[in-house]
Amino acid sequence: MNELRVENITKSFKISKKQQKNSKSNVDRIVALQDFSASFKEGEIYGLLGPNGAGKTTALRIIASLIKADSGEIYFNDKNIYDEIYFYRKKVGFLTSELKLDDFFTPDYTFTYMSRLYGLSEEETKANKEKLFNRFGISAFKDVKIHDLSTGMKQKVSLAISLCNNPDVIIFDEPTNGLDIVASKDVEDYLLDLKKENKIIIISTHIFSIIEKLCDRVAIILKGKKVLEGELKEVTKDKSLDNVFFDLYYKEQGHEEY
Ligand SMILES: Nc1ncnc2c1ncn2[C@@H]1O[C@H](COP(=O)(O)OP(=O)(O)O)[C@@H](O)[C@H]1O
Ligand SMILES: [Mg+2]
Repeated sequence: MNELRVENITKSFKISKKQQKNSKSNVDRIVALQDFSASFKEGEIYGLLGPNGAGKTTALRIIASLIKADSGEIYFNDKNIYDEIYFYRKKVGFLTSELKLDDFFTPDYTFTYMSRLYGLSEEETKANKEKLFNRFGISAFKDVKIHDLSTGMKQKVSLAISLCNNPDVIIFDEPTNGLDIVASKDVEDYLLDLKKENKIIIISTHIFSIIEKLCDRVAIILKGKKVLEGELKEVTKDKSLDNVFFDLYYKEQGHEEY
């Protein structure tokens, strides 16, 4: 049974002069994420909900080991991920709808290339490719240069490629951002399938309906801090998710009433 846990992760960034000017302050660092802890289970979709700039992408990038936290630890099956980072990275898929692919290559070539980087065998690569390309309706386009594909198809190819290592942990930053409606539906359905396959799934979004449709548990994050976490059903027992969110949001802004 896979289990992933993060403990007290904090991350700050040095900010540019321009950012400093825009925020009208003279501090030169911003705390993007503060003391974030959570644990993630198999067969569950966990959603990080928060407005722009809340720290969602930062949290997900740290959990995926794309960047390092300033402090705090991440444990996969009770082992610190940095003790065996290559093992961990093989288990993780980081997805974003903003991933750019190289226009001059085909989906088939790109998938194989990425799978080789993961050190997968030819057989595994072939099996994963067939499964994902069929699932996303890419098979008929697998030999077409990415440049010549429709936007929706490009997006689906980029998702399939992000999943080429058949990861146990799927971290998906803003799953349907910028996707066309058909690709969005595909992605949502696919996440629910992955949940049935007992994957650990963590998503971030600023869209209430995505959390409502997909997530078992939700955390609300504001200005780098987790301000609420719970089973979606519990959190939305008395009010709708957007009411829960805005109550917290305006409280954080210092307005008790609105
Ligand atoms: N590489 C970076 N350099 C400087 N500031 C950053 C960097 N990455 C994120 N930030 C800042 O950290 C905060 C959180 O950003 P982010 O995690 O991208 O939020 P979200 O994904 O919730 O919109 C924002 O204020 C953002 O401007
Ligand atoms: Mg983000």
